[in-house]
Formats: sequence, structure tokens, C-alpha cells
Amino acid sequence: MIANGQRKGVAMGDAMRFRSNVVWMGAVVALIVLSMVNVLLLSSCSSDEQAAQQAQSAEPQNAEAQASASGESVTQTEGDLSENSSESSSEGTRHVASGDYLFLVNRDEENAIPDGWLDSIELVEVENQLGETYTVERKTAEAYESARDELEEEGIHACLNSAYRSRETQESIYAEQAESFGEQYAADHVAPGGHSEHETGIAIDVILIVNGEELRSIEQMEAHPEELEELDRVMAKHGFILRYLDGKEDITGYDPELWHFRYVDDPEVAQEIMSQGITLEEYLGKE
Ligand code: DAL
Ligand code: ZN
Repeated sequence: MIANGQRKGVAMGDAMRFRSNVVWMGAVVALIVLSMVNVLLLSSCSSDEQAAQQAQSAEPQNAEAQASASGESVTQTEGDLSENSSESSSEGTRHVASGDYLFLVNRDEENAIPDGWLDSIELVEVENQLGETYTVERKTAEAYESARDELEEEGIHACLNSAYRSRETQESIYAEQAESFGEQYAADHVAPGGHSEHETGIAIDVILIVNGEELRSIEQMEAHPEELEELDRVMAKHGFILRYLDGKEDITGYDPELWHFRYVDDPEVAQEIMSQGITLEEYLGKE
């Protein structure tokens, strides 16, 4: 009995130790598995967090780096590209290649904002010397600021007065002008929604400030012919053309505007168009 008991006891003790060992081993395996799962979960969380942090920090850093590289007060603009891109595609299926700034936008049905244009560009913000902020396509903004700085060195103060407009804004400007001054006046001065160069981000209105006076009308600007001539020369040197010329209303569809510049990118093309005194329609053979 004792022996049996002992054996039993031993046997029982062995069985208990065996079971105990099995339990311990199971617990150890479970712990190892749990800790491995934990490590995997932790590392995946931390890499997600790192990616999120990198994404958050990269944007302002890049924007600042790009702004300081250009030496201008350019900051990145977010949010309204996709919002407005759908607005541009209602009337046509025209596309332009990325980097092509020589496409025609006017009030003709076939010359609406090209499809996909707004998705292919980057809009940035430019602050003028009056503390107003305007949204402009990046390359256009950088070219303008180079021109503005060059003019500033000559003592000529160019001032950004309008730039990118959403279709909604363009339509409301048209409606306001029509209500205030009549339909014909609006048609002669403001493009209908979907057909304004301002909706592309590569057209800007630039006024002059002379002796503290902001020259906002044709009469005011023409009273300073030397500054006006220099504005046109320097803007062309940086890839801009005047878009609405006196005497070309039948081609452009609008009254003259001494402030509306359109970026065409290539300074040689801009200087050729400006020196010939022709419209973009004439240059492209689409008048
Ligand atoms: N003032 C020009 C024509 C525009 O509205 O786009
Ligand atoms: Zn304009």
C-alpha cells in the first residue's frame, strides 16, 4: 500500500509534475506567443504613427523650403483643387499636356478651361504689399515675384490685385457687374464662368502703386507711361503677356485691360507676342 501509495504517490507525483510541466510549458508558450503578437502590434502602431508624423511634418517643411528656395512669400495652398476641378469639365473635353502653358482660354465654347487642368497644377499663395493674399499657380507665382522684385529694384511698385478664381467666384463677379452696370458691360469686362483665364491660376491682375497712389483704372495707369512700359517689358521678360489689348476687342471679346497678364511660361514667346502687339488668339492662329 505504502509502496503502491508511494508508487502511486510517486506515480501520482510524476503525473502531477508532468501535468504541472505541461501547464507551465503551455503558459510559457502562450506568453511567448502573446509577447510576439504584442511586439508585432506595437511595431505596426509605431510605424503608422511615424508615417503619420512624417506626413504631417513634411508638408510645412516642404512648403517652407520651396518658399525660401524661391526667395518669395509663397506658401502652399490646400483643399480647393479637386473641389474646383469638376467645375472645369462641363463644356468640353479639351486636354493640355502637363507643363503646357500655351493653351487658349476665351469665351468661345471650345475654349473653356481644359479638362484636368486644375488637377495637374499646384496652387500657392502670394501676399502683396497691401497685406492681401492671392492664390496663384506655382510657376506663375514664382515668375511674377521675380518680375515684381526686378521692378522693385528700379523703384517701380507692382502690386498683385487678382489671381486664381473658382468658377463660383467668377460667376458671382459676372452677376454683380451685370446687376450694377448692365449685361453688356459685364459681357465686355468679365468672362462667363468656365471661360475666365483667372480660373486657370495662370492669369494675374497687376496694378502699379506710384507715390502711394494705387493705379486701378486705365486712365490712372496711362498717366504713368514710363512705369507702364517698364511693367510690360519686365513682365514679358518673365514669361507674361498682356491679354486684352486696345483695338483687339473683336478678337479677345473684351475691353482692354492694362493689368491682366497671362503667363505663357517661355519668355521668348512672351516677348515675341508683346513686341508684335498681338493677341494669344493671333499667335496661336485661332482668331
Ligand atoms: N476680366 C477678364 C476678361 C476675366 O474676367 O477673366
Ligand atoms: Zn484679369
